[in-house]
Amino acid sequence: MKTFSGKNILVTGADGFVASHLCEHLVSKNAKVIALLRRNSGGIFKNLNEIKKSVKIKWGDTQDLSLLTETTKNVDIIYHLAAQSHVGHSLYNPYETVTNDVLSTLNVVEAARKNDVKRVIHAGSSEIYGDPKYVPIDTKHPLQPRSPYAAAKASAENILESYFHTYGLPIVMSRFFNIFGPRQGLDQAIPKFILQALNGRNITIYGDGKQTRDYTYVDDAVNAYSKLGLIPNLEGKVMNFGTGKEIQIRKLAKLIIELCDSNSKLKFSKNLRSGETPRLLCNSNTAKKLTKWKPTISFEEGVKRTIEYYKDKTHLIDNIPYML
Ligand SMILES: NC(=O)c1ccc[n+]([C@@H]2O[C@H](COP(=O)([O-])OP(=O)(O)OC[C@H]3O[C@@H](n4cnc5c(N)ncnc54)[C@H](O)[C@@H]3O)[C@@H](O)[C@H]2O)c1
Repeated sequence: MKTFSGKNILVTGADGFVASHLCEHLVSKNAKVIALLRRNSGGIFKNLNEIKKSVKIKWGDTQDLSLLTETTKNVDIIYHLAAQSHVGHSLYNPYETVTNDVLSTLNVVEAARKNDVKRVIHAGSSEIYGDPKYVPIDTKHPLQPRSPYAAAKASAENILESYFHTYGLPIVMSRFFNIFGPRQGLDQAIPKFILQALNGRNITIYGDGKQTRDYTYVDDAVNAYSKLGLIPNLEGKVMNFGTGKEIQIRKLAKLIIELCDSNSKLKFSKNLRSGETPRLLCNSNTAKKLTKWKPTISFEEGVKRTIEYYKDKTHLIDNIPYML
């Protein structure tokens, strides 16, 4: 596929953090976007509010096969991003997470198979690698999930792979390391630390803060997804996406304090949360080779942009105690 222009593209979980940025990109490229979102009684479009008139809104749940079968008629590409996406939440809600994330993926591929969708792109996660045996982590690294979320993502990939081999379904598997940027869920480290720093509150860090993450700014992640939709011969491939640079969580917190010009102090809790991976560092050589993807926004620049986004939303700090 050379361009997205005029193509029918379904994005699941379209009002989520990454998917909303992806929808904006696809709209800017003149795609006909079907944005599938879970119904809510407030009729709230969450992160899609700005572009709700430029996409076709479809309320529904990816656990509903009949809905997906109906929705994917004449669809060219499915970007499957809907998921219960939070590791911490999955520790307390394993049934919700596994049922939702696994069944949704099964439904997506089954609907795609029935309707001859040309490509299904899955939003996989580096969490499936668990506590790494070596770094940087490449796609050959064994899968050793440490949380129900990671287990669900690994299972989802197994389903995708089985549909590729059994039915020749054109699937593409991405495994993103941590993505960050405006609109991310407040249960994630970067938005949480920014809100704490902007409000002059202590920044709470799990464990000694020496755990590391490899962060990609959301625009670079969207660029990766764009390539996964357009580049030929990616079917059946699995690719890691990350910058190849890691940062300790304590250093990240200090950088945020500095960039927010804040007096916040670091407060350490005794242990890493169970299910948390101590180190994530990406080897994205396969992705680079197959797609020529490379991140363009430095970590510091991405953090600055994210701080700007939260400057007039500092009241959101009040929501943080309710996050798991
Ligand atoms: N953010 C990251 O760092 C990262 C890294 C790797 C992979 N991923 C994956 O990328 C995807 C997007 O992540 P995100 O950070 O934007 O998460 P998010 O929680 O902001 O977005 C997920 C969206 O999916 C929706 N959803 C969940 N279950 C649904 C269902 N059954 N039917 C319809 N909608 C449903 C949610 O309501 C939410 O809007 C997820 O699949 C996540 O696991 C994210």
